[in-house]
Amino acid sequence: MGTGTDRSARDERMQNQRIVVRAPAKVNLALRVGPLRSDGYHELVTVFHAVSLFDTVTVEPARDFTVTVRGAQAAQVPADGTNLAVRAARLLARTAGVTAGAALTIDKGIPVAGGMAGGSADAAAALVGCDALWGTGFTLAELTGIAAELGADVPFSLLGGTAIGTGRGEELTPVLTHGTLHWALALPTMELSTPAVFREFDLMHAEDPAEPPAVPPRLLAALTAADTRALAGQLDNDLQPAALRLQPGLAATLTAGSADGALAAVVSGSGPTVAFLLPAPAHELPSVVGPAVREVVRCHGPVPGARLVEPGVHYA
Ligand code: C5P
Repeated sequence: MGTGTDRSARDERMQNQRIVVRAPAKVNLALRVGPLRSDGYHELVTVFHAVSLFDTVTVEPARDFTVTVRGAQAAQVPADGTNLAVRAARLLARTAGVTAGAALTIDKGIPVAGGMAGGSADAAAALVGCDALWGTGFTLAELTGIAAELGADVPFSLLGGTAIGTGRGEELTPVLTHGTLHWALALPTMELSTPAVFREFDLMHAEDPAEPPAVPPRLLAALTAADTRALAGQLDNDLQPAALRLQPGLAATLTAGSADGALAAVVSGSGPTVAFLLPAPAHELPSVVGPAVREVVRCHGPVPGARLVEPGVHYA
């Protein structure tokens, strides 16, 4: 128990505290979707891969829970209690018995509704940030358990790297990889809703039920061997045909990248972002840019999951 002076010094420190966390986007190197479960989710096997496109969440002390969203697509993100980062902060407080609130500021660098787990990244960052702000001291395993209650991709946003996801995607096994993969991401002008893409998948499999999914062994071998060309032949997404049915314009983007010498092209998650695996970091994809694509951004992976940003440290 500290003295009055200790306590007021600690309270003052808490008042001035400003925690900054950044969390990465993901692409799915493979996404094998199985049958619909009774809880409304699909059994799946995926290989998540965290890439160097980040959201930054700043967490500051507050009596209540508030969120401010900044960035070019900020208007498309809810700035109220339905925001997944606010739900994450509230759930952490409830779990830890914390009565304080938190003021969250989200700087969006990850495309919104792009199939790159931007909302999950914000939730993971809010968990790490609030844990640091309140000194709740949860382990990564404990935070992962809380993350799984928020959404299927949130545990991976905490972990980062490259990992196999099973169940709804929340049961993770890290994958040993060597080397760095270089990507160009085509960000389409339109959005796709994840539940809508899964619904389309179900319609397409109404007469031909999806098989229970399996871990793709050749993909894992290519990752371990750092064999980028072998990996290119293994990128695979069961949701891609459903995303293409909802957004037929994506087909032209996928083909344009191959014509420009990309090693492979795959829709990321439920889309509509298209990820191109590049033969070299500076490889250009001039034909991909067009009316259907608002921007092409480069990134690399794997990168770590949600982490505190220490002042003065340079992060690649
Ligand atoms: O968990 P999260 O809220 O990110 O999932 C969004 C939606 O994606 C779910 O409501 C569900 O429609 C679909 N989904 C699914 N099966 C999974 C993961 C997500 O059907 N394994």
